[in-house]
Amino acid sequence: MPTLNLDLGARSYPIYIDSGLFENEKLFSDHIRGKRVCIVTNTIVAPLYLEKIKSKLTNFDVDEIILPDGEAEKSLANFERIMSHLLKNEHGRDTTLIALGGGVIGDITGFAAASYQRGVDFIQVPTTVLSQVDSSVGGKTAVNHPLGKNMIGAFYQPKAVIIDIDSLVTLPVREFNAGMAEVIKYGILGDYDFFVWLENNISSIKAGDKTLLAEMIERCCQCKADIVANDETEAGVRALLNLGHTFGHAIEAEQGYGNWLHGEAVATGMVLAGKLAVAMNLLEVSELCRIESLIEAFDLPLQAPETMGCDDFTRHMRRDKKNIGGKLRFIVPTAIGKSEIRDDITQETLQQIL
Ligand code: NAD
Ligand code: GLY
Repeated sequence: MPTLNLDLGARSYPIYIDSGLFENEKLFSDHIRGKRVCIVTNTIVAPLYLEKIKSKLTNFDVDEIILPDGEAEKSLANFERIMSHLLKNEHGRDTTLIALGGGVIGDITGFAAASYQRGVDFIQVPTTVLSQVDSSVGGKTAVNHPLGKNMIGAFYQPKAVIIDIDSLVTLPVREFNAGMAEVIKYGILGDYDFFVWLENNISSIKAGDKTLLAEMIERCCQCKADIVANDETEAGVRALLNLGHTFGHAIEAEQGYGNWLHGEAVATGMVLAGKLAVAMNLLEVSELCRIESLIEAFDLPLQAPETMGCDDFTRHMRRDKKNIGGKLRFIVPTAIGKSEIRDDITQETLQQIL
């Protein structure tokens, strides 16, 4: 039985969250239509989990693509590399791609699945906190362009999401913490009780308590699934999931992809969004302090890079996908557990907080 289901009519899919799922042969084969499978992964994840997954796919003709590691590899060049591999190895329309790795692998594999022969099936097998709580669910797929993050992509839903929480055991602490930024995001943007739950469980989460991690991932995926089911292509409420991302994407692009981790940039972005809200009298200073404390508890940065000024931010933010009619749009928290989309932020207010 899936833990959750993302309800999108004919494109609905199950989300499985548990320990030991990589041992479950039937789980994988239940979501593969044809005989061919191509696993897309990277040089870090392959030695850890590739053979394990392959050993559960003995009834299929399986090959793999192992990309270099890192955010900078979420590129058009690697997208082309995937296309070439699939063509050279004569994969047809009934092939299934498996994205085995973090958000970088999930995003590029999803975009490859959306594009190869106008669309083949894919399964998300996320192995980082960030990808388990956010990027594997909801069907946003993309690669980066030197001029902007996630600028080339598609909305394309997977056939299933298989989250084995045991895979987090090998995740470096810095990556674990970066993923926690997206977890905290759900509390700030729409779930006060979850924010308090996080405040009360900081040390057990950091210690990797599996029962708590499973509950945490399920709560995040449920929140995301509810939002995406109501607004798959971000015509409205889904934009709230971008809390912290407007500033965060600017930091990532300005600093060079991979120097700041995505989650670290989002953490600082959420603090800046909070400061914006305080400057506009939308958020109490005491609430911003609570947000900063929780972010800091996971060793995440609160300050933007010293070298970045207001002009550096606005140059990147002008290309943000949320902007309408040339107007910058921001997600701002108006309380812990409540957020709004605003397009009435003045240049003076931005100058003040940046
Ligand atoms: P990532 O994919 O780079 O993974 C982080 C690091 O952990 C990498 O070095 C990776 O090789 C390594 N790794 C992965 N799994 C591991 C494991 N189990 N054990 C040890 N090492 C492991 O980064 P991420 O934080 O997972 O994802 C960030 C990306 O996700 C960004 O590109 C961001 O834009 C994207 N994203 C997409 C969405 C979406 O909705 N599609 C949402 C949020 C973020
Ligand atoms: N991570 C933002 C979204 O999926 O919409």
